[in-house]
Amino acid sequence: MNATFLITTMVLSALSTFSSNDLHSFAKPKEAVITHLSLSIEVDMKKQIIAGVANYTIEKAANATQIWFDTKQLNIEKVLLNGSVKTNFQLTSEKPFLGKGLSVNINPDTKNVSIYYSTTKESAALQWLTPEQTEGKNAPFLFTQGQAILTRTWIPIQDSPGIRFSWDATVKVPPTLLPVMSAQNPKQKNETGEYTFRMVEPVPAYLIALAVGDIYFITLSDRTGVYAEADMIGKASDELMEMEKMLVSAEQLYGPYQWGRYDVIILPPSFPFGGMENPRLTFATPTIITGDRSLISLVAHELAHSWSGNLVTNATWDDFWLNEGFTVYFERRIMEAISGKEYADMLSVLGYQDLLETVADLGDTSEATHLKLNLKDKDPDDGMSDIAYEKGYFFLQYLENKLGRTSFDAFLTEYFKTYAFRTITTEEFISYLNKKFVGKLDATQINEWIYKSGLPSTLIKPISVRFNLVDAEISRFIDQSVKAEKLVTTNWSAHEWIRFIRKLPASVNNKQLVELDKAFSFTNSRNAEIQFAWYMQAIQHNYEPADKAIVSFLSAIGRRKFVLPLYKSLYANKRTSVLAKETYNKLKLGYHSVTQQSVDEVFLAK
Ligand code: BES
Ligand code: ZN
Repeated sequence: MNATFLITTMVLSALSTFSSNDLHSFAKPKEAVITHLSLSIEVDMKKQIIAGVANYTIEKAANATQIWFDTKQLNIEKVLLNGSVKTNFQLTSEKPFLGKGLSVNINPDTKNVSIYYSTTKESAALQWLTPEQTEGKNAPFLFTQGQAILTRTWIPIQDSPGIRFSWDATVKVPPTLLPVMSAQNPKQKNETGEYTFRMVEPVPAYLIALAVGDIYFITLSDRTGVYAEADMIGKASDELMEMEKMLVSAEQLYGPYQWGRYDVIILPPSFPFGGMENPRLTFATPTIITGDRSLISLVAHELAHSWSGNLVTNATWDDFWLNEGFTVYFERRIMEAISGKEYADMLSVLGYQDLLETVADLGDTSEATHLKLNLKDKDPDDGMSDIAYEKGYFFLQYLENKLGRTSFDAFLTEYFKTYAFRTITTEEFISYLNKKFVGKLDATQINEWIYKSGLPSTLIKPISVRFNLVDAEISRFIDQSVKAEKLVTTNWSAHEWIRFIRKLPASVNNKQLVELDKAFSFTNSRNAEIQFAWYMQAIQHNYEPADKAIVSFLSAIGRRKFVLPLYKSLYANKRTSVLAKETYNKLKLGYHSVTQQSVDEVFLAK
């Protein structure tokens, strides 16, 4: 056997591990796949363009003549092989939500592909903020959002969660700004405006992220810290003080943290999500900075993704529950460890209420309520719902209950170790589970959880003793006409208030809402979760005094989880439907494209 033959077989066997084919990527990893990205870009904050070169190390089958990339809303200028040889490339026609496939002609000796490109005004991952849209109001800001299939709108790439590669980057920005990435990061600015980044572990494309702004860093512990704008960083570091404690709890549960540092960046309020688990650097909404640490379970969630999602990744977006369901379970275990069972129980009960509402909304015979999704011909972003999160959580809760916490924990620890830096399908997970618990599981029940609609009869309904007290106060107010100010609400956390607001019965009248608002100042709350819950009730009950506050909330915050239901509800309500439309027309361009795309559909529907 000669050396060339040996190497070819080795490469081929590496390529042949790409079994599941991802319907949301043009990449053909069995033919040719990227193993390392060297990105070299300049960020032009004035023109709002990123331009540069994505240099790839590739592995290919012996007979491969092309390598396929994903692109969307990009200009591709030229492609070079092995650093210097010009080669032909073709772009497919534009496919809905997938963008254009880019095929590059390669040679038998090709080891390296360099794609020269620039982003466009349309590049959906990017949100360019004017100084007015930031906290400090004096410098522009840029951030990216890759999940699920948006990284291809700022880097030509093989944009499939099943394809992992290491990467490094050189990023040039105006010298007054600091860039940070989901990688080894600088802690302060330098005069040149040029920075380098390294991610030595293999990651999928959706986990590459960049933020650029007038941002600063504060250390919280040896391996945790927070980035934010100057006006936010003090508040943020107070709020996130417990990050090291969370990290220690997480490691005690499911094994060592594999990414070195864990930092969080607090982004401007238009960030479309609560949090995004970009490796080493979670991106987070400023709405978790409340002053009372009441919403830090969101950080526990993003931290948990360092195992479920970033270490062990869903092979395709159909397997999304493997990322999110595990993460919600892990998040609640971390919260139980640091704040106690009663606290975690509140989170589960709120999640259960979300789940019931989502199932009612989608219909309990809908395929969209399956844990294993079928996103063929769909934008993954449209197919993702609370089902993956909460039905996923309750499935793992069911398994814990069936197998016992100790052995289920041991199983999860081993699972994260076995599949570390790999991807996994739902089917592979189930067969791994069955192998580890021979004779202990019920195949019919598991099948129902994964492949059937609605909620299985084996779901264990969560109970919260603290919420039972809240519910009793609601009854006293509604049924026994106890004055709002006489209700026993001492030491209630934000979660108890959210429960209280959400559980107000449909029959609650305007006079009662006025009384509650007077006693508890819900309309003027500074906690976005409380505001959101209250505003939803206000819209439903035509409680006019909240109108102005709702509009100002919509203009201050771009988080889709809040903005979308508010617009939906305002628009569905006769009294406020014109207000909804006018407000959205005014504010639309201030939202990230992800939020815009979802809200646009609200106004198209009718
Ligand atoms: N990975 C998700 C965010 C995401 C999901 C972005 C799908 C794009 C597509 C993140 O971990 C998440 O779940 N964020 C939640 C918060 C969490 C506490 C449930 C959010 O943003 O609200
Ligand atoms: Zn998540």
